[in-house]
Amino acid sequence: MARELTEVGVVGLGTMGAGIVEVLARAGLSVTAVDVDDDAVARGRAHVEQSTERAVTRGKLEDADRTAILERVRYTTTLADLGSAELVVEAVPERMDLKAQLFAELDRICPPDTILATNTSSLSVTALSVATGRPSKVIGMHFFNPAPVMKLVEIVRTVVTEPGVVEDVEALAARLGKVDVTIGDKAGFIANALLFGYLNHAVEMVENRYASREDVDAAMRLGCGLPMGPLALMDLIGIDTAYEILQTMYQQSRDRLHAPRPLIKQMMTAGLLGRKSGRGFYTYAERGSAEVV
Ligand code: 3HC
Repeated sequence: MARELTEVGVVGLGTMGAGIVEVLARAGLSVTAVDVDDDAVARGRAHVEQSTERAVTRGKLEDADRTAILERVRYTTTLADLGSAELVVEAVPERMDLKAQLFAELDRICPPDTILATNTSSLSVTALSVATGRPSKVIGMHFFNPAPVMKLVEIVRTVVTEPGVVEDVEALAARLGKVDVTIGDKAGFIANALLFGYLNHAVEMVENRYASREDVDAAMRLGCGLPMGPLALMDLIGIDTAYEILQTMYQQSRDRLHAPRPLIKQMMTAGLLGRKSGRGFYTYAERGSAEVV
């Protein structure tokens, strides 16, 4: 029988991490939310507060429930506060050195049966698992942006992940109101492996002045029924995150479909990171907003 997890941690409170904190707290779990410094913690907290406030304004959440959700989250810059977490989800930037170091530290801090999950979208879960002394308790738990809205969680099992751990995480995903797919450890898993070649191709069309950004997005929204065009989606994902994912997939597949288009790197260098910086392919009313100006 699957374990019913009640106390969890999230490390890294960027767009994805803060969204994951909200999803977990909404499902009634106690969440310890960790980031490296006070500024990062404040940004993560603001993200959760604004997102739940918007839900109240839209009549989707009672004010009292919002208060209860916010009270279930404890914010901290001290990793050692995760000492009693039954599961920790890591959502720090997509860099193997950073994640491996974090996993090694979590391995020292958390009890031996704590599940260590990574929200990585393209790095090897197996490589991360061997940074710990408990590879069988390491698993991928990949959420989609915006985490409170997107229904899917990809659960990534390595060749050594214990079946019981997979069961526990599948049961948790169901409690979070998500639909899960369980897969093996290959860069991009299912969704990103299919999605990012398409996103990269859309960038190529704009880069070559073959089509305008608006026309590329309109074609996919209005012609193919997607909720948002590929360039608007790149802005939502984050240009830097998209670059890292493509780069990792390219290193593994060597398929030029995944070789990040030069424009992506140029935008990254120029600080055009998408919604989170206020400008990417489009310009936004304010950081993080969806309103295009
Ligand atoms: N946080 C919380 N809730 C949000 C939100 C956010 N950032 N953005 C939108 N929402 C909620 C709204 O509150 C609204 O909720 P309601 O229906 O309960 O009132 C609902 O989502 C719909 O929002 P809107 O009416 O404002 O706008 P849209 O109908 O245009 O939907 C969207 C916005 C959900 C982002 C939609 O455009 C969409 O589904 N886009 C595609 C997103 C996608 O493909 N994500 C996957 C990216 S790949 C990935 O994440 C993998 C990773 O590894 C990079």
